[in-house]
Amino acid sequence: MRRRLITGNWKMHGNLAALGELEAVARSAAAHPGIDVALALPATLIAPAVARLAGLAGAALAIGGQDVHPADSGAHTGCLSAAMLREAGARFTLVGHSERRADQHETSQDACAKAEAAHRHGLSVILCVGETEAERDAGRAARVVQAQIEKSVPEDANGTWLSLAYEPRWAIGTGRTPTMDEIAEVHAIARDKLRTLAGGAADAIRILYGGSVTGANAADILATANVDGALVGGASLTAAKLLPIIAAAA
Ligand code: PGA
Repeated sequence: MRRRLITGNWKMHGNLAALGELEAVARSAAAHPGIDVALALPATLIAPAVARLAGLAGAALAIGGQDVHPADSGAHTGCLSAAMLREAGARFTLVGHSERRADQHETSQDACAKAEAAHRHGLSVILCVGETEAERDAGRAARVVQAQIEKSVPEDANGTWLSLAYEPRWAIGTGRTPTMDEIAEVHAIARDKLRTLAGGAADAIRILYGGSVTGANAADILATANVDGALVGGASLTAAKLLPIIAAAA
């Protein structure tokens, strides 16, 4: 009942020339109508990407942002509101990515407020959670993820607009991934936690895995219980790397 979702995250990579990658990704998305495909782009590339895709017949690729400010407007130099992302053509945004938690000191409460703002303005949300290596080594991965979910999932969450991404921080950009059993364990715990927070609505909330997903490991990861898709960083930067992941999901 949950459609698989493959979302690329370009982070602070790419430029107008790199948008040439979009055509092959959009064609692949259109060729696999049973799954959803999305790309979270640098904010400056959202409008040009959407314009480019508008010229492609049957393009089924959603473009989104990587962060959003919780307020609708105000004196927040350098920030973007959900309405601004929407106007640029974004259909979703990431919130609470571990790089923002680490570099911009964002908390789970911040992520919650950002998710609510995005939802108010009609954006879907991919909310990211995940433990550090030290937390995993101390046997605290499950508890950390549970606490992040509890503090960051908005009250009215449901699967029509919210997805969760479990991204162990030590697996991001490192080429290291948890075992499939470890992924299954955290995803099951996340699913249970969502049920206690959102009741029956939780069953439609997709839980993506993120952290060093590639064409080589995507099939195994996507076959793991309660894994409803992937959040892909490095391997989303070129169509050549992303297409095998889309194919594995389909
Ligand atoms: P990675 O990044 O695929 O390069 O590990 C994942 C992410 O940060 O979303």
